[in-house]
Amino acid sequence: MKFFADTADIDAIAELNELGMLDGVTTNPSLILKSGGNIVEVTKAICDMVDGPVSAEVVATEADAMIAEGRKLAAIADNIAVKVPLTWDGLHACRTLSNDGFLVNVTLCFSAAQALLAAKAGAGFISPFIGRLDDINLDGLELVRDIRQIYDNYGYETEVLAASIRSVSHVTECALIGADVITAPPAVIRQMAAHPLTDKGLAAFLADWEKTGQKIL
Ligand code: E4P
Repeated sequence: MKFFADTADIDAIAELNELGMLDGVTTNPSLILKSGGNIVEVTKAICDMVDGPVSAEVVATEADAMIAEGRKLAAIADNIAVKVPLTWDGLHACRTLSNDGFLVNVTLCFSAAQALLAAKAGAGFISPFIGRLDDINLDGLELVRDIRQIYDNYGYETEVLAASIRSVSHVTECALIGADVITAPPAVIRQMAAHPLTDKGLAAFLADWEKTGQKIL
Protein backbone atom coordinates (compact mmCIF):
# COMPACT_ATOMS: atom_id res chain seq x y z
CA MET A 1 0.00 0.00 0.00
CA LYS A 2 1.27 3.46 -0.86
CA PHE A 3 1.33 6.22 1.75
CA PHE A 4 0.84 9.84 0.76
CA ALA A 5 1.08 12.68 3.28
CA ASP A 6 -1.97 14.93 3.19
CA THR A 7 -0.21 18.18 4.03
CA ALA A 8 1.82 21.08 2.70
CA ASP A 9 3.95 21.21 5.85
CA ILE A 10 7.51 20.88 4.55
CA ASP A 11 9.04 19.82 7.89
CA ALA A 12 6.47 17.06 8.42
CA ILE A 13 6.96 15.84 4.86
CA ALA A 14 10.75 15.83 5.30
CA GLU A 15 10.55 13.71 8.46
CA LEU A 16 8.25 11.10 6.91
CA ASN A 17 10.29 11.06 3.72
CA GLU A 18 13.54 10.42 5.58
CA LEU A 19 11.84 7.54 7.40
CA GLY A 20 11.00 5.97 4.05
CA MET A 21 7.27 6.26 4.73
CA LEU A 22 6.30 8.47 1.84
CA ASP A 23 5.23 7.48 -1.66
CA GLY A 24 3.73 10.87 -2.47
CA VAL A 25 1.95 13.96 -1.14
CA THR A 26 -1.48 15.49 -1.58
CA THR A 27 -2.19 19.18 -1.13
CA ASN A 28 -5.34 21.24 -1.54
CA PRO A 29 -6.14 24.97 -1.32
CA SER A 30 -6.92 24.71 2.41
CA LEU A 31 -3.58 23.00 3.10
CA ILE A 32 -1.72 25.65 1.06
CA LEU A 33 -3.47 28.33 3.14
CA LYS A 34 -2.43 26.54 6.33
CA SER A 35 1.21 26.36 5.14
CA GLY A 36 1.26 30.15 4.77
CA GLY A 37 3.35 29.85 1.58
CA ASN A 38 2.96 30.55 -2.12
CA ILE A 39 1.45 27.59 -4.00
CA VAL A 40 4.18 27.41 -6.65
CA GLU A 41 7.05 27.73 -4.16
CA VAL A 42 5.60 25.31 -1.61
CA THR A 43 4.69 22.75 -4.27
CA LYS A 44 8.12 22.99 -5.90
CA ALA A 45 9.83 22.45 -2.54
CA ILE A 46 7.70 19.35 -1.91
CA CYS A 47 8.33 17.99 -5.42
CA ASP A 48 12.09 18.45 -5.01
CA MET A 49 12.00 16.43 -1.78
CA VAL A 50 9.61 13.59 -2.61
CA ASP A 51 10.05 11.14 -5.48
CA GLY A 52 6.39 10.14 -5.92
CA PRO A 53 3.38 12.09 -7.17
CA VAL A 54 2.57 15.41 -5.54
CA SER A 55 -1.03 16.51 -6.05
CA ALA A 56 -1.61 20.21 -6.69
CA GLU A 57 -5.20 21.35 -7.05
CA VAL A 58 -6.75 23.67 -9.63
CA VAL A 59 -9.11 26.35 -8.34
CA ALA A 60 -10.94 27.25 -11.57
CA THR A 61 -14.41 25.77 -11.97
CA GLU A 62 -14.81 25.89 -15.74
CA ALA A 63 -13.11 23.19 -17.85
CA ASP A 64 -10.91 25.34 -20.10
CA ALA A 65 -9.66 27.38 -17.15
CA MET A 66 -9.03 24.18 -15.15
CA ILE A 67 -7.00 22.80 -18.05
CA ALA A 68 -4.92 26.01 -18.25
CA GLU A 69 -4.30 25.95 -14.50
CA GLY A 70 -3.52 22.23 -14.64
CA ARG A 71 -0.87 22.80 -17.30
CA LYS A 72 0.67 25.60 -15.23
CA LEU A 73 0.76 23.41 -12.11
CA ALA A 74 2.19 20.47 -14.06
CA ALA A 75 5.04 22.71 -15.23
CA ILE A 76 6.24 23.04 -11.61
CA ALA A 77 7.83 19.58 -11.68
CA ASP A 78 7.70 16.22 -13.44
CA ASN A 79 6.06 14.52 -10.46
CA ILE A 80 2.97 16.74 -10.25
CA ALA A 81 -0.44 15.10 -10.28
CA VAL A 82 -3.03 17.68 -11.28
CA LYS A 83 -5.96 17.57 -8.90
CA VAL A 84 -9.38 18.44 -10.32
CA PRO A 85 -12.75 18.33 -8.54
CA LEU A 86 -15.32 15.71 -9.47
CA THR A 87 -17.66 17.99 -11.39
CA TRP A 88 -18.76 17.69 -15.01
CA ASP A 89 -16.21 20.36 -15.94
CA GLY A 90 -13.62 18.55 -13.84
CA LEU A 91 -14.22 15.38 -15.86
CA HIS A 92 -13.68 17.31 -19.11
CA ALA A 93 -10.44 18.71 -17.68
CA CYS A 94 -9.42 15.23 -16.53
CA ARG A 95 -9.90 13.76 -19.99
CA THR A 96 -7.95 16.53 -21.74
CA LEU A 97 -5.10 16.60 -19.23
CA SER A 98 -4.73 12.83 -19.14
CA ASN A 99 -4.83 12.67 -22.96
CA ASP A 100 -1.98 15.20 -22.88
CA GLY A 101 0.01 12.80 -20.70
CA PHE A 102 -0.51 14.44 -17.31
CA LEU A 103 -1.30 12.42 -14.20
CA VAL A 104 -4.70 13.50 -12.86
CA ASN A 105 -6.12 13.03 -9.36
CA VAL A 106 -9.91 13.48 -9.34
CA THR A 107 -10.83 14.74 -5.91
CA LEU A 108 -13.93 15.39 -3.80
CA CYS A 109 -15.45 12.01 -4.71
CA PHE A 110 -18.45 11.08 -2.58
CA SER A 111 -20.18 8.33 -4.60
CA ALA A 112 -19.31 5.17 -6.52
CA ALA A 113 -21.09 6.58 -9.58
CA GLN A 114 -18.74 9.58 -9.54
CA ALA A 115 -15.76 7.23 -9.26
CA LEU A 116 -16.94 5.28 -12.30
CA LEU A 117 -17.05 8.47 -14.36
CA ALA A 118 -13.56 9.49 -13.21
CA ALA A 119 -12.11 6.14 -14.31
CA LYS A 120 -13.75 6.49 -17.72
CA ALA A 121 -12.36 10.04 -18.00
CA GLY A 122 -8.82 8.68 -17.59
CA ALA A 123 -8.09 9.62 -13.96
CA GLY A 124 -4.81 8.30 -12.57
CA PHE A 125 -6.24 8.55 -9.05
CA ILE A 126 -9.73 8.77 -7.60
CA SER A 127 -9.96 10.36 -4.15
CA PRO A 128 -12.99 9.21 -2.12
CA PHE A 129 -13.30 11.37 1.04
CA ILE A 130 -13.92 9.02 3.96
CA GLY A 131 -13.97 11.40 6.92
CA ARG A 132 -16.30 13.92 5.35
CA LEU A 133 -18.86 11.16 4.64
CA ASP A 134 -18.51 9.88 8.21
CA ASP A 135 -19.07 13.48 9.39
CA ILE A 136 -22.59 13.41 7.92
CA ASN A 137 -23.35 9.94 9.28
CA LEU A 138 -22.65 8.08 6.04
CA ASP A 139 -20.11 5.28 5.71
CA GLY A 140 -16.92 6.52 4.04
CA LEU A 141 -15.26 3.11 4.14
CA GLU A 142 -18.24 1.55 2.36
CA LEU A 143 -17.59 3.97 -0.50
CA VAL A 144 -13.94 2.86 -0.73
CA ARG A 145 -15.12 -0.78 -0.72
CA ASP A 146 -17.66 -0.12 -3.50
CA ILE A 147 -15.13 1.69 -5.70
CA ARG A 148 -12.57 -1.11 -5.22
CA GLN A 149 -15.20 -3.67 -6.28
CA ILE A 150 -16.35 -1.68 -9.33
CA TYR A 151 -12.81 -0.97 -10.54
CA ASP A 152 -11.89 -4.65 -10.10
CA ASN A 153 -15.08 -5.77 -11.90
CA TYR A 154 -14.04 -3.92 -15.03
CA GLY A 155 -10.26 -3.78 -14.72
CA TYR A 156 -10.00 0.01 -14.43
CA GLU A 157 -6.42 1.03 -13.71
CA THR A 158 -7.35 4.24 -11.86
CA GLU A 159 -5.79 3.97 -8.40
CA VAL A 160 -8.07 4.24 -5.38
CA LEU A 161 -6.55 6.98 -3.21
CA ALA A 162 -8.46 6.96 0.08
CA ALA A 163 -8.59 10.55 1.35
CA SER A 164 -10.01 12.54 4.25
CA ILE A 165 -8.49 9.98 6.61
CA ARG A 166 -9.05 10.88 10.24
CA SER A 167 -7.90 7.84 12.22
CA VAL A 168 -5.58 4.86 12.39
CA SER A 169 -8.54 2.53 11.92
CA HIS A 170 -9.38 4.31 8.65
CA VAL A 171 -5.89 3.39 7.43
CA THR A 172 -6.15 -0.23 8.60
CA GLU A 173 -9.59 -0.68 7.05
CA CYS A 174 -8.42 0.83 3.75
CA ALA A 175 -5.51 -1.63 3.71
CA LEU A 176 -7.94 -4.52 4.30
CA ILE A 177 -10.26 -3.27 1.55
CA GLY A 178 -7.34 -3.00 -0.87
CA ALA A 179 -7.20 0.75 -1.49
CA ASP A 180 -4.08 1.41 -3.59
CA VAL A 181 -3.09 4.49 -1.62
CA ILE A 182 -4.04 6.32 1.55
CA THR A 183 -3.37 9.98 2.03
CA ALA A 184 -3.32 10.91 5.69
CA PRO A 185 -2.27 13.83 7.88
CA PRO A 186 1.25 13.24 9.29
CA ALA A 187 -0.22 13.05 12.81
CA VAL A 188 -2.32 10.02 11.83
CA ILE A 189 0.70 8.27 10.28
CA ARG A 190 2.67 8.94 13.47
CA GLN A 191 -0.23 7.68 15.59
CA MET A 192 -0.03 4.34 13.75
CA ALA A 193 3.13 3.56 15.75
CA ALA A 194 1.38 4.02 19.09
CA HIS A 195 -0.11 1.25 21.22
CA PRO A 196 -0.82 1.41 24.98
CA LEU A 197 0.53 -2.11 25.48
CA THR A 198 3.79 -1.08 23.80
CA ASP A 199 4.08 1.83 26.26
CA LYS A 200 3.16 -0.38 29.24
CA GLY A 201 5.55 -3.16 28.20
CA LEU A 202 8.40 -0.72 27.64
CA ALA A 203 7.85 0.89 31.06
CA ALA A 204 8.01 -2.56 32.73
CA PHE A 205 11.18 -3.54 30.85
CA LEU A 206 12.87 -0.26 31.78
CA ALA A 207 11.87 -0.61 35.44
CA ASP A 208 13.35 -4.14 35.58
CA TRP A 209 16.48 -3.01 33.76
CA GLU A 210 16.99 -0.27 36.35
CA LYS A 211 16.93 -2.96 39.06
CA THR A 212 19.77 -4.90 37.39
CA GLY A 213 22.10 -1.93 37.95
CA GLN A 214 23.72 -2.72 34.56
CA LYS A 215 24.57 -0.39 31.67
CA ILE A 216 24.82 -1.20 27.93
CA LEU A 217 26.99 1.82 27.13
C1 E4P B 1 -7.34 14.82 -0.28
O1 E4P B 1 -6.55 14.85 -1.18
C2 E4P B 1 -7.69 15.96 0.60
O2 E4P B 1 -6.59 16.84 0.63
C3 E4P B 1 -7.95 15.57 2.03
O3 E4P B 1 -7.78 14.20 2.26
C4 E4P B 1 -9.13 16.20 2.65
O4 E4P B 1 -9.22 15.77 3.99
P1 E4P B 1 -10.13 16.51 5.07
O5 E4P B 1 -11.55 16.09 4.85
O6 E4P B 1 -9.61 16.04 6.39
O7 E4P B 1 -9.94 17.98 4.85
